[in-house]
Amino acid sequence: MLYKISHTSAKPSHYNEEAKHYDAFTEKNSKPINHLIENILKKYKVKTVLDLTCGTGSQVFWLAKRGYQVIGSDINSSMLKIAKSKARKEKLDVKFLKGDMRSIKVGKFDAVISIFNAVGHLTKIDFEKAMQNIHENLKDDGLYIFDIFNLSYLIKDNYITNLTFDRQEITGNMTIREIQYSTIDKDGILASYTTFFVQTGSTKAKISRSAQTLQVYTAEQLREMLHRNGFKVLRQCGIDGSRFAKNKTDRIVTIAKKQ
Ligand SMILES: C[S@@+](CC[C@H](N)C(=O)[O-])C[C@H]1O[C@@H](n2cnc3c(N)ncnc32)[C@H](O)[C@@H]1O
Repeated sequence: MLYKISHTSAKPSHYNEEAKHYDAFTEKNSKPINHLIENILKKYKVKTVLDLTCGTGSQVFWLAKRGYQVIGSDINSSMLKIAKSKARKEKLDVKFLKGDMRSIKVGKFDAVISIFNAVGHLTKIDFEKAMQNIHENLKDDGLYIFDIFNLSYLIKDNYITNLTFDRQEITGNMTIREIQYSTIDKDGILASYTTFFVQTGSTKAKISRSAQTLQVYTAEQLREMLHRNGFKVLRQCGIDGSRFAKNKTDRIVTIAKKQ
Protein backbone atom coordinates (compact mmCIF):
# COMPACT_ATOMS: atom_id res chain seq x y z
CA MET A 1 0.00 0.00 0.00
CA LEU A 2 2.05 2.96 -1.21
CA TYR A 3 -0.15 5.93 -0.27
CA LYS A 4 1.33 9.15 1.14
CA ILE A 5 1.67 9.46 4.93
CA SER A 6 2.70 12.64 6.78
CA HIS A 7 5.51 12.66 9.33
CA THR A 8 6.79 15.22 11.83
CA SER A 9 9.63 14.94 14.34
CA ALA A 10 8.48 13.24 17.55
CA LYS A 11 7.48 15.43 20.49
CA PRO A 12 9.34 15.01 23.81
CA SER A 13 6.19 13.34 25.23
CA HIS A 14 6.07 10.70 22.45
CA TYR A 15 7.22 7.81 24.67
CA ASN A 16 5.20 8.76 27.80
CA GLU A 17 2.78 5.82 27.40
CA GLU A 18 5.17 3.34 25.74
CA ALA A 19 7.72 3.84 28.54
CA LYS A 20 5.54 1.82 30.93
CA HIS A 21 5.97 -1.42 28.97
CA TYR A 22 9.07 -0.59 26.91
CA ASP A 23 11.43 -2.98 28.70
CA ALA A 24 9.01 -5.92 28.52
CA PHE A 25 10.05 -6.62 24.92
CA THR A 26 13.00 -4.43 24.04
CA GLU A 27 15.64 -5.81 26.44
CA LYS A 28 15.61 -9.18 24.65
CA ASN A 29 15.35 -7.68 21.14
CA SER A 30 18.33 -5.38 21.72
CA LYS A 31 20.85 -8.15 22.32
CA PRO A 32 22.08 -8.68 18.72
CA ILE A 33 22.65 -4.97 18.06
CA ASN A 34 24.22 -4.39 21.50
CA HIS A 35 26.71 -7.19 20.74
CA LEU A 36 27.52 -5.63 17.39
CA ILE A 37 28.04 -2.16 18.86
CA GLU A 38 30.36 -3.58 21.50
CA ASN A 39 32.43 -5.29 18.78
CA ILE A 40 32.62 -2.12 16.68
CA LEU A 41 33.70 -0.02 19.70
CA LYS A 42 36.36 -2.61 20.57
CA LYS A 43 37.68 -2.65 16.98
CA TYR A 44 38.05 1.16 16.90
CA LYS A 45 39.50 1.32 20.45
CA VAL A 46 36.69 3.57 21.68
CA LYS A 47 36.64 4.48 25.40
CA THR A 48 34.05 7.24 25.76
CA VAL A 49 30.50 7.00 24.39
CA LEU A 50 27.54 9.39 24.26
CA ASP A 51 24.18 7.67 23.68
CA LEU A 52 21.93 10.47 22.42
CA THR A 53 18.71 8.40 22.36
CA CYS A 54 19.32 6.18 25.37
CA GLY A 55 15.66 5.49 26.24
CA THR A 56 15.58 3.16 29.27
CA GLY A 57 19.32 2.56 28.88
CA SER A 58 19.63 -0.67 26.90
CA GLN A 59 22.97 0.25 25.26
CA VAL A 60 24.17 2.42 28.17
CA PHE A 61 23.98 -0.45 30.70
CA TRP A 62 25.35 -3.01 28.25
CA LEU A 63 28.42 -0.83 27.58
CA ALA A 64 28.91 0.47 31.15
CA LYS A 65 29.04 -3.13 32.42
CA ARG A 66 31.77 -3.82 29.86
CA GLY A 67 34.00 -0.97 31.01
CA TYR A 68 33.06 1.86 28.63
CA GLN A 69 32.59 5.40 29.98
CA VAL A 70 29.03 6.12 28.83
CA ILE A 71 26.65 9.03 29.23
CA GLY A 72 23.01 8.60 28.19
CA SER A 73 20.70 11.37 27.07
CA ASP A 74 17.14 11.34 25.75
CA ILE A 75 14.31 13.76 25.04
CA ASN A 76 11.70 11.78 27.02
CA SER A 77 11.51 12.15 30.83
CA SER A 78 9.57 8.90 31.41
CA MET A 79 12.17 6.78 29.62
CA LEU A 80 14.97 8.57 31.53
CA LYS A 81 13.21 8.01 34.87
CA ILE A 82 13.22 4.25 34.23
CA ALA A 83 16.89 4.35 33.15
CA LYS A 84 17.86 6.24 36.35
CA SER A 85 15.94 3.86 38.59
CA LYS A 86 17.63 0.84 36.90
CA ALA A 87 21.04 2.46 37.49
CA ARG A 88 20.21 2.91 41.19
CA LYS A 89 18.98 -0.70 41.51
CA GLU A 90 22.08 -2.09 39.80
CA LYS A 91 24.35 0.34 41.71
CA LEU A 92 25.85 1.61 38.45
CA ASP A 93 27.31 5.10 38.44
CA VAL A 94 25.97 6.28 35.05
CA LYS A 95 24.98 9.82 34.18
CA PHE A 96 21.67 10.43 32.37
CA LEU A 97 20.71 13.81 30.91
CA LYS A 98 17.57 15.17 29.36
CA GLY A 99 18.17 16.62 25.91
CA ASP A 100 17.32 16.76 22.25
CA MET A 101 19.73 15.03 19.87
CA ARG A 102 19.44 18.05 17.55
CA SER A 103 20.86 20.49 20.10
CA ILE A 104 22.31 18.98 23.32
CA LYS A 105 26.02 19.62 23.94
CA VAL A 106 27.61 17.16 26.35
CA GLY A 107 31.33 17.21 25.49
CA LYS A 108 33.74 15.54 23.06
CA PHE A 109 33.41 11.74 22.79
CA ASP A 110 35.18 8.93 20.93
CA ALA A 111 31.78 7.73 19.72
CA VAL A 112 28.16 8.87 19.61
CA ILE A 113 25.37 6.31 19.18
CA SER A 114 21.60 6.44 18.51
CA ILE A 115 20.16 2.93 18.38
CA PHE A 116 16.87 1.11 17.62
CA ASN A 117 15.57 3.22 14.73
CA ALA A 118 15.73 6.29 16.98
CA VAL A 119 16.68 8.70 14.15
CA GLY A 120 13.47 7.64 12.38
CA HIS A 121 11.63 9.85 14.88
CA LEU A 122 13.11 12.89 13.14
CA THR A 123 12.20 14.38 9.76
CA LYS A 124 14.97 14.31 7.13
CA ILE A 125 15.77 18.00 7.78
CA ASP A 126 15.93 17.44 11.54
CA PHE A 127 18.13 14.36 11.12
CA GLU A 128 20.64 16.54 9.25
CA LYS A 129 20.48 19.05 12.16
CA ALA A 130 21.16 16.13 14.52
CA MET A 131 24.14 15.04 12.39
CA GLN A 132 25.63 18.55 12.71
CA ASN A 133 25.13 18.43 16.47
CA ILE A 134 26.64 14.93 16.70
CA HIS A 135 29.67 16.30 14.81
CA GLU A 136 30.11 18.85 17.63
CA ASN A 137 29.90 16.19 20.35
CA LEU A 138 32.65 14.09 18.74
CA LYS A 139 36.44 14.29 19.04
CA ASP A 140 38.37 14.53 15.76
CA ASP A 141 38.02 11.18 13.94
CA GLY A 142 35.20 10.19 16.35
CA LEU A 143 32.56 7.67 15.26
CA TYR A 144 28.81 8.02 14.82
CA ILE A 145 27.03 4.65 14.93
CA PHE A 146 23.27 4.26 14.33
CA ASP A 147 20.67 1.93 12.85
CA ILE A 148 17.52 2.54 10.83
CA PHE A 149 15.13 0.43 8.73
CA ASN A 150 16.18 -0.05 5.11
CA LEU A 151 13.71 1.61 2.72
CA SER A 152 14.91 -0.47 -0.28
CA TYR A 153 13.99 -3.64 1.64
CA LEU A 154 10.63 -2.42 2.99
CA ILE A 155 9.22 -1.19 -0.36
CA LYS A 156 10.07 -4.44 -2.16
CA ASP A 157 7.10 -6.71 -2.95
CA ASN A 158 5.18 -7.37 0.28
CA TYR A 159 8.26 -7.25 2.55
CA ILE A 160 6.53 -4.65 4.73
CA THR A 161 4.42 -7.52 6.11
CA ASN A 162 7.61 -8.99 7.63
CA LEU A 163 7.34 -6.24 10.25
CA THR A 164 3.97 -7.54 11.48
CA PHE A 165 4.17 -9.13 14.91
CA ASP A 166 2.09 -10.51 17.76
CA ARG A 167 4.14 -11.01 20.92
CA GLN A 168 3.45 -11.69 24.58
CA GLU A 169 5.46 -11.40 27.80
CA ILE A 170 4.39 -12.56 31.26
CA THR A 171 6.03 -10.79 34.22
CA GLY A 172 4.78 -11.88 37.64
CA ASN A 173 0.97 -11.76 37.42
CA MET A 174 0.99 -9.32 34.48
CA THR A 175 0.49 -10.42 30.88
CA ILE A 176 1.44 -7.92 28.18
CA ARG A 177 0.52 -8.62 24.58
CA GLU A 178 1.50 -6.32 21.71
CA ILE A 179 0.18 -6.67 18.16
CA GLN A 180 1.52 -4.43 15.40
CA TYR A 181 1.37 -3.96 11.63
CA SER A 182 2.93 -1.29 9.43
CA THR A 183 2.58 0.42 6.06
CA ILE A 184 5.19 2.36 4.08
CA ASP A 185 5.09 5.05 1.38
CA LYS A 186 7.62 5.65 -1.37
CA ASP A 187 9.21 8.60 0.52
CA GLY A 188 10.12 6.23 3.33
CA ILE A 189 7.46 7.13 5.87
CA LEU A 190 6.77 3.99 7.86
CA ALA A 191 3.48 4.06 9.80
CA SER A 192 3.01 1.46 12.56
CA TYR A 193 -0.31 0.65 14.25
CA THR A 194 -0.18 -1.07 17.64
CA THR A 195 -2.70 -2.64 20.01
CA PHE A 196 -1.63 -3.33 23.60
CA PHE A 197 -3.45 -5.73 25.95
CA VAL A 198 -2.38 -5.53 29.58
CA GLN A 199 -3.93 -8.02 31.97
CA THR A 200 -3.18 -8.15 35.69
CA GLY A 201 -4.13 -11.46 37.36
CA SER A 202 -7.51 -12.61 36.13
CA THR A 203 -8.95 -9.09 35.71
CA LYS A 204 -10.25 -7.93 32.34
CA ALA A 205 -7.42 -6.86 30.00
CA LYS A 206 -6.93 -3.12 29.44
CA ILE A 207 -6.72 -2.42 25.71
CA SER A 208 -4.96 0.59 24.23
CA ARG A 209 -4.18 1.54 20.64
CA SER A 210 -1.48 3.80 19.22
CA ALA A 211 0.04 4.80 15.89
CA GLN A 212 3.40 6.33 15.03
CA THR A 213 5.45 7.24 11.99
CA LEU A 214 9.18 6.86 11.33
CA GLN A 215 11.30 8.25 8.49
CA VAL A 216 13.35 5.39 7.02
CA TYR A 217 16.15 5.57 4.44
CA THR A 218 18.05 3.74 1.75
CA ALA A 219 21.73 3.06 2.47
CA GLU A 220 22.65 5.48 -0.30
CA GLN A 221 20.51 8.31 1.12
CA LEU A 222 22.24 7.89 4.48
CA ARG A 223 25.69 8.01 2.87
CA GLU A 224 24.80 11.23 0.99
CA MET A 225 23.39 12.93 4.11
CA LEU A 226 26.39 11.97 6.25
CA HIS A 227 28.81 13.13 3.58
CA ARG A 228 27.01 16.52 3.33
CA ASN A 229 27.34 16.94 7.10
CA GLY A 230 31.04 16.20 7.54
CA PHE A 231 31.17 12.40 7.94
CA LYS A 232 32.85 9.61 5.99
CA VAL A 233 30.95 6.30 5.99
CA LEU A 234 33.28 3.47 7.03
CA ARG A 235 30.79 0.60 6.85
CA GLN A 236 27.12 -0.33 6.51
CA CYS A 237 25.86 -3.75 7.61
CA GLY A 238 22.92 -5.63 9.16
CA ILE A 239 22.27 -5.61 12.92
CA ASP A 240 24.07 -8.98 13.21
CA GLY A 241 27.10 -7.52 11.44
CA SER A 242 26.26 -9.27 8.15
CA ARG A 243 27.34 -7.65 4.88
CA PHE A 244 24.79 -5.04 3.68
CA ALA A 245 22.49 -6.32 0.90
CA LYS A 246 20.09 -3.75 -0.63
CA ASN A 247 17.05 -6.06 -0.78
CA LYS A 248 17.87 -8.39 2.12
CA THR A 249 19.07 -6.25 5.03
CA ASP A 250 16.03 -5.08 7.01
CA ARG A 251 17.83 -2.64 9.36
CA ILE A 252 20.99 -0.81 8.29
CA VAL A 253 23.74 -0.19 10.84
CA THR A 254 25.98 2.68 9.70
CA ILE A 255 29.42 3.47 11.09
CA ALA A 256 30.59 6.94 10.09
CA LYS A 257 33.74 8.88 10.98
CA LYS A 258 33.91 12.62 11.72
CA GLN A 259 35.95 14.35 8.95
C1 LIG B 1 13.11 3.15 20.03
S1 LIG B 1 13.68 4.09 21.41
C2 LIG B 1 15.34 3.48 21.55
C3 LIG B 1 15.90 3.55 22.94
C4 LIG B 1 17.19 2.76 23.17
N1 LIG B 1 18.27 3.24 22.33
C5 LIG B 1 16.95 1.27 22.96
O1 LIG B 1 17.62 0.66 22.10
O2 LIG B 1 16.12 0.72 23.66
C6 LIG B 1 13.92 5.69 20.69
C7 LIG B 1 14.29 6.76 21.70
O3 LIG B 1 14.61 7.97 20.98
C8 LIG B 1 14.19 9.05 21.79
N2 LIG B 1 14.09 10.26 20.95
C9 LIG B 1 13.20 10.54 19.97
N3 LIG B 1 13.43 11.76 19.46
C10 LIG B 1 14.51 12.26 20.11
C11 LIG B 1 15.25 13.47 20.03
N4 LIG B 1 14.92 14.43 19.16
N5 LIG B 1 16.32 13.64 20.86
C12 LIG B 1 16.66 12.69 21.75
N6 LIG B 1 15.99 11.52 21.89
C13 LIG B 1 14.93 11.30 21.07
C14 LIG B 1 12.87 8.59 22.36
O4 LIG B 1 12.47 9.36 23.48
C15 LIG B 1 13.18 7.13 22.68
O5 LIG B 1 13.63 6.97 24.00
